[in-house]
Amino acid sequence: MTTANLNTASEMIHSTGAKIIDGRLHARRLREELRIKAAELLAKFGAPPKLTVILVGDDAASRLYVSNKSKACRDVGIESVVITLPASSTLDTLLAVIEEQNRDASVHGILVQLPLPRHLPVHAVLERIAVEKDVDGFHLYNVGSLAVGTAVFPPCTPYGVQKLLEAEGIPIAGQNVVVVGASNIVGKPTAMMLMQRDATVCICHAKTRDLAQFTILADILVVAAGRPNLIVSQMVKTGAVVIDVGINRLPDGKIVGDVDFDGVSQKASYITPVPGGVGPMTVTMLLANTITAAQRMWGEPSHARAP
Ligand code: GUN
Repeated sequence: MTTANLNTASEMIHSTGAKIIDGRLHARRLREELRIKAAELLAKFGAPPKLTVILVGDDAASRLYVSNKSKACRDVGIESVVITLPASSTLDTLLAVIEEQNRDASVHGILVQLPLPRHLPVHAVLERIAVEKDVDGFHLYNVGSLAVGTAVFPPCTPYGVQKLLEAEGIPIAGQNVVVVGASNIVGKPTAMMLMQRDATVCICHAKTRDLAQFTILADILVVAAGRPNLIVSQMVKTGAVVIDVGINRLPDGKIVGDVDFDGVSQKASYITPVPGGVGPMTVTMLLANTITAAQRMWGEPSHARAP
């Protein structure tokens, strides 16, 4: 029996089942456009857009993410270089590597894979990435640009969430958005981006009392808390759009999000699966930001506004 069967009878009768948002499909479509842009830049400037990824240490998940990013770059014609440093690297060593990439005119984007080993101060590291190469959008300048609505490099996961909503024709202006999770990488920038699009936004987090009293109000519920089954159908308004950013590995090896997919998909109007929802969009938006960085460096028009 799935959790959907545990819902109340009236919910079952009225439910029609959510449309499942196919992140792989949307990512594939966007990548086709990016492939064309990368080829145009190569033809015009004699070099491809180029991304440097810096990986410190040998965390298995980070290695996998970095290898996925490289593969995705190759897929659309972006050159990618991975610089791997030992976990014991000093701050000076890492900063010297970043400075070298900042100075290298053939490099358009720089990404330092997070998390860093504990002895390395993450903010001090991110602030050394040249603002115009900060394709993650984590430099304070770019965080500030996002806050005032002039972002050139929106952080990749929130950017992917926004693109999914747009691609599905889901209105944002005037909607009640509840974001569960207040991280710098996902929750806070997602809230700012959707507020910029005239949504009414509420951010919940680990200390929120009675989470359900907030989530039940959401027309669009974005969940990025890193807790399997945090959101069950009783916490979701009928017809809500549910975007699950969570990626959790269960003891049996299965990958699940933060949302009870079986139950909530009976009540929502749209829902993203995990895997295959937001995940493929995150990497795709990194590719988009890298192409934007190359376009700007080469003086080409890009979608992004000047800071
Ligand atoms: N680790 C998990 N997500 C991210 C991300 O979006 N960017 C970087 N640099 N590291 C991450």
